[in-house]
Amino acid sequence: MERPAAEPGAQPRANGCSGAAHGALRNGYVRGLPAPDTQIHHIVHNGGLYKKPFNEAFEETPMLVAVLTYVGYGVLTLFGYLRDFLRQWKIEKCQNATEREEQKDFVPLYQDFENFYTRNLYMRIRDSWNRPICSVPGAKVDMMERVSHDYNWTFMYTGRVIKDIINMGSYNYLGFAQNTGACQEAAAKVLSQYGAGVCSTRQEMGNLDKHEELEKLIARFLGVESAMAYGMGFATNSMNIPALVGKGCLILSDELNHASLVLGARLSGATIRIFKHNNMQSLEKLLKDAIVHGQPRTRRPWKKILILVEGIYSMEGSIVRLPEVIALKKKYKSYLYLDEAHSIGALGPSGRGVVEYFGLNPEDVDVMMGTFTKSFGAAGGYIGGKKELIDYLRTYSHSAVYAASLSPPVVEQIITSMKCIMGEDGSTFGKECVQQLAENTRYFRRRLKEMGFIIYGNEDSPVVPLMLYMPAKIGAFGREMLKRNIGVVVVGFPATPIIESRARFCLSAAHTKEILDTSLC
Ligand SMILES: Cc1ncc(COP(=O)(O)O)c(C=O)c1O
Repeated sequence: MERPAAEPGAQPRANGCSGAAHGALRNGYVRGLPAPDTQIHHIVHNGGLYKKPFNEAFEETPMLVAVLTYVGYGVLTLFGYLRDFLRQWKIEKCQNATEREEQKDFVPLYQDFENFYTRNLYMRIRDSWNRPICSVPGAKVDMMERVSHDYNWTFMYTGRVIKDIINMGSYNYLGFAQNTGACQEAAAKVLSQYGAGVCSTRQEMGNLDKHEELEKLIARFLGVESAMAYGMGFATNSMNIPALVGKGCLILSDELNHASLVLGARLSGATIRIFKHNNMQSLEKLLKDAIVHGQPRTRRPWKKILILVEGIYSMEGSIVRLPEVIALKKKYKSYLYLDEAHSIGALGPSGRGVVEYFGLNPEDVDVMMGTFTKSFGAAGGYIGGKKELIDYLRTYSHSAVYAASLSPPVVEQIITSMKCIMGEDGSTFGKECVQQLAENTRYFRRRLKEMGFIIYGNEDSPVVPLMLYMPAKIGAFGREMLKRNIGVVVVGFPATPIIESRARFCLSAAHTKEILDTSLC
């Protein structure tokens, strides 16, 4: 297995981390080297395209675990039918799952299986989701206590707040989700100067000096000619893709792309073809096919071919094989749309995202998209690229023309956090946060592997899926972690394949070593 060379001056440490002589970081531990690793399955150093090792692991579900998982779903399904039978004959006391008398003549609103799955499987563990939090989503978070007296059909708040739960679920990668400090102070000042809402679109009365300042800053941050900011990350994808491609165009989309990309692709009217997740053979085959055969029936060449990928995939923890994607897009003269929602701020030596992580040129990505809801602790999305592209989108994108512009304090939160990452606040705090996140990521992933868990994704990805597999473990894991004051997101079918239920940890620069160790114990 290939590994980066050891840093000069690295010292072995008692906790298993090795430390560089001057590598001490904010959170109480020392920059470490990856430990020997036995589970990495895919190591790519493809044809010199990669300047550093690309280590990603997706261990196949062990046969016994797969069988037990299917048996688990089988048992739950059998019990579901049994309980449906008991409900029908009014033997079961809780009748929430039966149709109400006044609804009996209606055509069912949902498909039969969805209905069955919801009432008999999902309801059993519904308490694992939608829990209201009542504090800033920082390293620790406060949660409102809930109870259910009808098997999770309804919940009641007890009025008690569960304090200081370790937050392993928010996308607060750099720790900028705070209610104190420079960002909060700057946002509060702007709030008192401009108010909270703009009450108009950018093209009418909603174009503030703050918006212009933000867009110039984004362009500088990304290293592109121009940028535009939008009020919502989801709408940035779903409303801009239809402005870029349409009928007669072809979209090649990764099978695990986010719903906003999928919606944008569908709304565009372009033909959509799906390639296997991060699989370059699959992408190249589609590209070749598109060039050789052109459009169906007419055989005319496609007007445009647009490849849609994400920087970090938030369910898999994988990082896009960007050097290979760029090589393919150049070879087949297509365009590339890169969604950096999870990678901007979180990857690259200075937090510039996946392009910087691989040491690539931002000009090689035609459409650089990202959101402010993760690393910047704010709201909204952006698109960066060539000036002609951004000028075009300002006129033709629905979210630019028909949506009210970003709220001024939110804009200020983004400006202040971005300047901090860039070191333009005169401190090294932002840079330290980026380094701390990378350190936390390597440490947490290594410790989980040492403990024998199967985890997915790239060793540099702060999204860490820990495989649970069995349906009963989804609820049990979430509840047991919460009992220990650790909040974690659990995910199962249909959000994952049926035998790949998982818990998903999102690491943050705000996590201290003590917090990470508590979560691991
Ligand atoms: C890859 C990706 N793109 C877009 C979005 C939508 O962004 P937002 O939540 O900021 O609207 C998300 C949200 O999580 C995402 O993961």
